[in-house]
Amino acid sequence: MSGPLLLSIESSCDETGIALIEDGRRIVSNVVASQVALHAPSGGIVPEVAARAHLRWIVPVLDEVWADAGVAWSDVDGIAVTYGPGLAGSLLVGINFAKALAWVHDKPLIAVNHLEGHVYAGWLLDPGEDEASRPEPIFPLVALVVSGGHTFLAEMTDHLTYRLLGTTVDDAAGEAFDKVGRLLGLGYPGGPAIQRAAEGAIRRDVRFPRAWMGDTYDWSFSGLKTAARRIVTDARAAEGLADEPDARLSEATVAELAWGFQDAVVDVLVTKTIRAAEAVGARSIVLGGGVAANSVLRDRLRSEAEDRSLPLIVPRPALCTDNGAMIGAAGARRFAAGERAGLDLDARPSLPLARR
Ligand code: KG4
Ligand code: ZN
Repeated sequence: MSGPLLLSIESSCDETGIALIEDGRRIVSNVVASQVALHAPSGGIVPEVAARAHLRWIVPVLDEVWADAGVAWSDVDGIAVTYGPGLAGSLLVGINFAKALAWVHDKPLIAVNHLEGHVYAGWLLDPGEDEASRPEPIFPLVALVVSGGHTFLAEMTDHLTYRLLGTTVDDAAGEAFDKVGRLLGLGYPGGPAIQRAAEGAIRRDVRFPRAWMGDTYDWSFSGLKTAARRIVTDARAAEGLADEPDARLSEATVAELAWGFQDAVVDVLVTKTIRAAEAVGARSIVLGGGVAANSVLRDRLRSEAEDRSLPLIVPRPALCTDNGAMIGAAGARRFAAGERAGLDLDARPSLPLARR
C-alpha cells in the first residue's frame, strides 16, 4: 500500500455504499446496493423504508467489499462515514455501523460531509486505471454538484476549502427531473428516464422557460415544474386527451417535452458554471452528483469548458450517483488533516458544505 487505506461508508439516502480507497484516490473495492427498485412503486423515497433497507443490506455489502478486495483489516488505517446531510434514519444506520467497526477493530473514525464526497468523486481512480489518463483537478477550481437533494456551485482554492458561489433557491435539479418525470408518466427516478426519452425526440425546439436569477450564480427550478405542468396539460388537450386522465400522451410528444425540459435545466447549469469559472479564474471544473450522470449535461459542459481550455473532471456515471468510494476520497483528506470523530458522532441531516 502506498498511502492510507480507508474503509468508507455511505447511507445518507437510498444507496448503501461501502468502499476501500487507497491514498484518497485509488478504488480497491466499491460496492453499492441500490434501493431504486424498492422505492419505484411509491414514486419517491420513503424514509422508513430506506432506513430498513440500509439495515438489511449493509452487512452483505461489507462482505462483498472484502470478497473483492484482497486486503485485510490489519491494512485498514481508518473508517470514514457520511454524517450528513441526508435522511436521519438512513444516516444513523451507516454511522452506527461505522462506530461498531471502529470500536471492534480499533480504528480511527472520520466524519464526512456527503456533499464533499460528491466533489471528491472527481479524484477517484478505478482499479488499474492509469493516473496519467486522469490527472487530479487543479486549484483554483469551481465544483458544480447537482443531485436529488442539492444543487450548488462552490469555488475551491485548495483541498477542503470551499466558498459557496450559488445554490438553488427552491428545488434541486434532480428533484425537478424526478417531478417532471412523474408528470410525463416516466416513473421513478425521473432523471435517467427523461434522458432516455429525450434521446428519441425528433423535433428539438420545445422551449421551457429559464429562470436566470439576475447576475447571481443561483438557480430556481420550481417555476420549471409549474411550466411543465402547463405544457403537459396543453399537449394533452392537443392530443384530445383532456377528458381521459388515464390515457397516455404519445411517445413522440413525451420525447419532445423531455428534450425541452432537459435542455432548459442543462442550459442554466452550464451557463452559470462557465460564467463562474471565468469570473474566479478557475483552472479546472469538477462536476458531481447524481444529475452529473446525465450525458447531455456532461457533453455540453465538456464542450464549453474545452472552448476555454479548461479541463472538466467528471466521474463515470456510477461514481456520480451516491457511493462509498467518494466518501473515502473526501475522508482521506480529512484523515490527512488530522481530523478524527468520536464514538459520540451524531447524524446531521441538514449539514451544509459551506456558507457564503
Ligand atoms: O446524488 P444522488 O444519487 O442522490 C442524492 O444525493 O440526491 O442523485 C440522485 C438524483 C435523482 O434525482 C436522479 O433523478 C438524478 O440524480 N439522476 C439523473 C440522471 N441519473 C440520476 N438526472 C438526470 N439525468 C440522469 N442520467
Ligand atoms: Zn448524493
